[in-house]
Amino acid sequence: MERELALEFVRITEAAALAAGRLMGRGDKEAADQAAVDAMRNVFDTVDIDGIVVIGEGEMDEAPMLYIGEKVGTGTEPNVDVAVDPLEGTNLVAKGLPNALSVVAVAPRGCLLHAPDVYMEKIAVGPRAKGCINLDATVLENLQAVAHALEREVQDLTAIILDRPRHAKIIKDIRAAGARVKLISDGDVSAAIATAIDNTGVDILFGTGGAPEGVIAAVALKCLGGEMQARLKPEGEEETARVSKMILNPTKLLLLDDLVLGDDIFFAATGITDGDMLQGVRYRGRTAETHSLVMRGLTGTIRNIYATHILDRKPRFVARKAGCKQNPRAR
Ligand code: FBP
Repeated sequence: MERELALEFVRITEAAALAAGRLMGRGDKEAADQAAVDAMRNVFDTVDIDGIVVIGEGEMDEAPMLYIGEKVGTGTEPNVDVAVDPLEGTNLVAKGLPNALSVVAVAPRGCLLHAPDVYMEKIAVGPRAKGCINLDATVLENLQAVAHALEREVQDLTAIILDRPRHAKIIKDIRAAGARVKLISDGDVSAAIATAIDNTGVDILFGTGGAPEGVIAAVALKCLGGEMQARLKPEGEEETARVSKMILNPTKLLLLDDLVLGDDIFFAATGITDGDMLQGVRYRGRTAETHSLVMRGLTGTIRNIYATHILDRKPRFVARKAGCKQNPRAR
């Protein structure tokens, strides 16, 4: 894939973030998600790819746009698999909490795991601890191995994990090992990426979240030189049957290459609410500002993109001596 596509993918996540960010704190996660989906879908139509959504908003009968199997892009080469999460952290936006993102991950056709919407057990670390984790080892063993790789004590590590009752045992084990814990209400894509970015203060991700989010995070971690291991956790007969149909062995330990094959990959994310890595959208009347990350696996380039978008070309306000009054000529 040509390097120029990086900017195109950022335009897609920027559009979704700008749309969803308007609904921050309104308590309506469906409306925020819909706004992000609509905006993302529109911009996809302008991008020169022949894309198929493999991770999206759901199956064709349950999602009108960005559904699994939908074609996106102008239809010209390259032929790619597309994974989207127009609004990762619907509750975060609805409540105005940190770390809501809009994300897109792209790989050559057939290179992304077509993960169904079931749970996935995950462990993830940044580049310095690559090669040290094992999903089948104990929490203590993983923490000790990461501490060794980072040349620190276990008590100096911070583990991040979704705050869910299903994680009670893992959280107890992390605390017993002496590591610090960061419990998050939602958003394990951002959490996984944070393990691979300096200054986020996060060293390792544990726990079970969505499988689609797992594949998206894997693309980012591959670009960042980090590591992730995972295992699908279908619940009930219907989910187990769905997983078995897609993946030969549903209990298989999935390594980074099983989640995303090769390095010719892109990942783009734009902050919706303020977060550990990305600033949220700022609306400034006629303009709005976004902060995005775009990464290319082939070269390992990571770009932080701060953009100012013109929302309304008409001047609506003029500064006066005695404060800021509406400009009657612009009405
Ligand atoms: P949504 O954006 O779809 O609401 O997902 C948020 C999220 O927290 C993901 O980051 C995570 O993988 C998943 O939900 C966890 O699922 P659950 O809330 O069922 O524990």
